[in-house]
Amino acid sequence: MIIDGKAIAARIRAEVAAQVREIEKRAGVRPGLALIRVGNDPASEIYVRGKAKACQETGMAGFEHILPEETTQPALLELVRKLNGDQTVHGVLVQLPLPRQIDAGAVLDALSPEKDVDGFGPINAGALFTGRKGLRPCTPSGILRLLDEAETPLQGARALVVGRSNIVGKPVAMLLLERHATVTLAHSRTAALDQEVGRADVLVAAVGKAEMIKGAWIKLGATVIDVGMNRNAAGKLCGDVEFPVASQRARAITPVPGGVGPMTIAYLLSNTIQAAKAQLDLS
Ligand code: GUN
Repeated sequence: MIIDGKAIAARIRAEVAAQVREIEKRAGVRPGLALIRVGNDPASEIYVRGKAKACQETGMAGFEHILPEETTQPALLELVRKLNGDQTVHGVLVQLPLPRQIDAGAVLDALSPEKDVDGFGPINAGALFTGRKGLRPCTPSGILRLLDEAETPLQGARALVVGRSNIVGKPVAMLLLERHATVTLAHSRTAALDQEVGRADVLVAAVGKAEMIKGAWIKLGATVIDVGMNRNAAGKLCGDVEFPVASQRARAITPVPGGVGPMTIAYLLSNTIQAAKAQLDLS
């Protein structure tokens, strides 16, 4: 089975659009999302443009703040604090990575946890770690939704996450643990990765290296979620998993593109609805 993230994400966006109308009707306020991009990282430009477009299509208010590469940390912190206090803004996203002169941790610390729709700040990250309510990171939420849509048993399953970033690897490991999977978190220094992959009923690949997980390693009947978005030697867009072979062995697998990517944006919008409802006392 090829897991159609594009179609699932479209359904979520339609649900979000209905919620936007509902919130407007009940509270007389349009949910609003502020997007901050600093500098001209090409991937960030594409991501933020996609997020703004999706925002518009659901009828949400979108506020794009594009700041120059040389923006100082105090200037960015001032903008974040201004948005914290802006009643028309219910969610704030600071696109990562940030330029060298800015400490991303300090920016995430400054963001109000109620508006932290990426779930990257210490309060929301801590809530996830301790099993409390909060805003959950978007890509990991999207991955769990894809696993559920593909009817993947998680309880007692061996789940392998490859990649230990704060954005995907660590939080998705916590979500899988919450669902009672036996979770292994592998990374660049893991020994015998091929054998780890060979044992995994569920594989989440989030390393950012073109086709580094070979199709022949995949356990027969596994479910494979590929978060990678890379170009191979031939310049073709591809994931972290060698899809042609992996798709012969897996029970279900996500394509690249059209798998995880659209889900990140869908859950960003969904988190903004959750944040707006909480701030407007509609939960
Ligand atoms: N950079 C890569 N992925 C993400 C994401 O989901 N959110 C933000 N803010 N930055 C990112």
